[in-house]
Amino acid sequence: MFYPLATSTWDREELAALQRVIDSGQFTMGPNVAAFEDEFAAYFGKKHAVMVNSGSSANLASVAALFYKKDRPLQRGDEVIVPVLSWSTTYHPLQQYGLRFKFVDISLETLNMTADVVRAAISPRTRMILAVSILGNPAEVDLMRAIADEHGLYFMEDNCESTDAALPNGRRTGTFGHLSTFSFFFSHHIATMEGGMVLTDDTELYHLLKSMRAHGWTRDLPHDSPLYERTGSDHFEAYRFILPGYNLRPIEMSAAVGREQLKRLPTMTARRRENLAVFQKLFAGDNRFIIQREHGKSSAYSFTVILNPGLDVDRERVFRMLREADIQFRMITGGCILRQDVRRYYDYEVHGSIKNGFIAHDRGFFVGNYPVPLKPQLHKLHEVLAEACR
Ligand SMILES: Cc1ncc(COP(=O)(O)O)c(C=O)c1O
Repeated sequence: MFYPLATSTWDREELAALQRVIDSGQFTMGPNVAAFEDEFAAYFGKKHAVMVNSGSSANLASVAALFYKKDRPLQRGDEVIVPVLSWSTTYHPLQQYGLRFKFVDISLETLNMTADVVRAAISPRTRMILAVSILGNPAEVDLMRAIADEHGLYFMEDNCESTDAALPNGRRTGTFGHLSTFSFFFSHHIATMEGGMVLTDDTELYHLLKSMRAHGWTRDLPHDSPLYERTGSDHFEAYRFILPGYNLRPIEMSAAVGREQLKRLPTMTARRRENLAVFQKLFAGDNRFIIQREHGKSSAYSFTVILNPGLDVDRERVFRMLREADIQFRMITGGCILRQDVRRYYDYEVHGSIKNGFIAHDRGFFVGNYPVPLKPQLHKLHEVLAEACR
């Protein structure tokens, strides 16, 4: 394929790391997971990291943990403010825990919800803001965290698409939430086959996450954890269950690969950003296309194009020409969730109108980005789109 959505970012180091795990014979969660968690937390300057088997699991464990906090836990029926554009499993745990969605629109320029809209959407029922930085582009997570603090709300960041992105002040996204989540699926900034991470500075949430991740048991908790009181019986403690948890554990191979990928993350992000500069030069200022306006420093997960709704451009013709040029593309993230059938299972309310989310869904798409030079591919993309829109 001339311009695929994604390619592998693994090198010899990742394959050697896999071999070391095989040689060790320790495949289930062990020293590599613990080391990757420490290294990841240190990279982001956070106290705690909990690795799980996917970004979806990171979201699920995070929402679950908030229901078991000692003080002010989330409760069924509580309202959560979320943007209408994200991946399906940003939303599903909220539904599974009986939370009520308050959907807000996104900015057509950044594709993220803005702090101003979040502030306006807060009601007496609101208990949490769930922010998403779409496709590498930082949302105003610093401002949103300040709003959450002002109103006594939980702030959760789904940073699955924006590892290594930074705000204008240089602080990284994924460091602002009471809980912030990451995905290491193929094509993401760090790829570990499957994998995810949660970052938090809150030690109670850290312990809740560790129990939620593994059967709801106490085995992975320190003996002085405030979540429970140990008895003197090792037999009883070995199978001691305190929470209705899951098995979301990652495997050693994923963590071993993640450690190698983390070492190369700054270089990989820099390379992604070199491609971003080429893309921006080609498309910025061409009013036929709306591209993501960068807020701070995007980690350039991929490149979005929205066909200007003011122009009479046939979307199907554009898509046909992209296919003919062997350029792979997809709907932006998962599209607007209010266009997906699953919304019928959600208890939701919409704040204001959702004009931009629908435009992004109906007239937008993304193409791939990865840490190898994509100049010919991006020039071809521009050529094809310019021809399709003539
Ligand atoms: C915003 C967002 N949240 C959550 C996920 C889920 O991550 P995973 O595929 O690792 O389960 C994704 C997946 O790409 C995502 O884009």
